[in-house]
Amino acid sequence: MKAHDLKGKNFLKLLDFTPEEIQGLIDFAVDLKAMKKAGEAHRFCEGKNVALLFEKDSTRTRCAFEVAAADLGMHPVYLGPSGSQMGKKESIEDTARVLGRMFDGIEYRGFGQAIVEDLAANAGVPVWNGLTNEFHPTQILADFMTMQEVAGPLKGQKLVYMGDARFNMGNSLMVGAAKMGMHFIACAPKQYWPADDLVATCREIAAQTGATIEFSDDPMTAVAGANVIYTDVWVSMGEPDEVWQERIEQLTPFRVTSEVMAAAGEQCRFMHCLPSFHDVQTTIGKEIYDRYGIDCMEVADDVFESPASIVFDEAENRMHTIKAVMAATL
Ligand code: CP
Ligand code: NVA
Repeated sequence: MKAHDLKGKNFLKLLDFTPEEIQGLIDFAVDLKAMKKAGEAHRFCEGKNVALLFEKDSTRTRCAFEVAAADLGMHPVYLGPSGSQMGKKESIEDTARVLGRMFDGIEYRGFGQAIVEDLAANAGVPVWNGLTNEFHPTQILADFMTMQEVAGPLKGQKLVYMGDARFNMGNSLMVGAAKMGMHFIACAPKQYWPADDLVATCREIAAQTGATIEFSDDPMTAVAGANVIYTDVWVSMGEPDEVWQERIEQLTPFRVTSEVMAAAGEQCRFMHCLPSFHDVQTTIGKEIYDRYGIDCMEVADDVFESPASIVFDEAENRMHTIKAVMAATL
């Protein structure tokens, strides 16, 4: 794929892209990372303006879009969860039509996937999904770029996702793995597996790419030989506080511990989209400790801090991959 092949396209979910296009974006990000490290200017979008709409909080995604936009020669404008008319006094459709008149591209982070699809249908400029409840596609580009840096070609790599696999991260990793010919296992109690229709779609894709899509509720056997064990928070943004107790009860056996990492083997790396509850150094982590007496949730602190953990390489790659998405589509 050449970068300009995606000009004018939205980036809403990986299901909309071919394996070659996904690989092309990752390879473009690899080049952009090398240019950044070498101090070579790459102001490919000089003079353009992009709007960054966030209906939920963010550290990585927001900063990645802002830094990437600046490196590409663009001016980013951030609109946070409060402070604009969007949703309260103005529909998403009207907001899209206004912003499309002023900006060359729009990032959206928020709730239902239907909202970002609606925004894209009305904006008239490329729209990029910076996380919805259903999908987090820019995260997957960074994750796969990081996996490629560690172990080479994605095809055939084994990725085990532990925890709540029904939400944006489990869904998107499963789609990405299907597209890229990987071996994907979601390891969780059955009620946390992705929706049947998405699984069926991914299995159809897998039949073309050589991927496998499997499910397990036994961490010790699921992880054997894995290249990566991936997890995410047990309660996602926008979910009610009431679900903490059941999540803790049901997902604690799926915490990524050093025993789980050992069962996978020496080659295995730990990944997490972040932010992560691996200690009690956060307000919520402390509250959970006070209420339930646990000092970590989805991952044990010793795994998070271990040499096998590549979470900060992954976080850095958010910026390079988001830059590739913007430069390719604008
Ligand atoms: N991984 C991720 O999307 O992080 P933020 O919520 O900080 O953007
Ligand atoms: N599942 C998490 C991902 C955060 C990057 C959430 O939606 O809060």
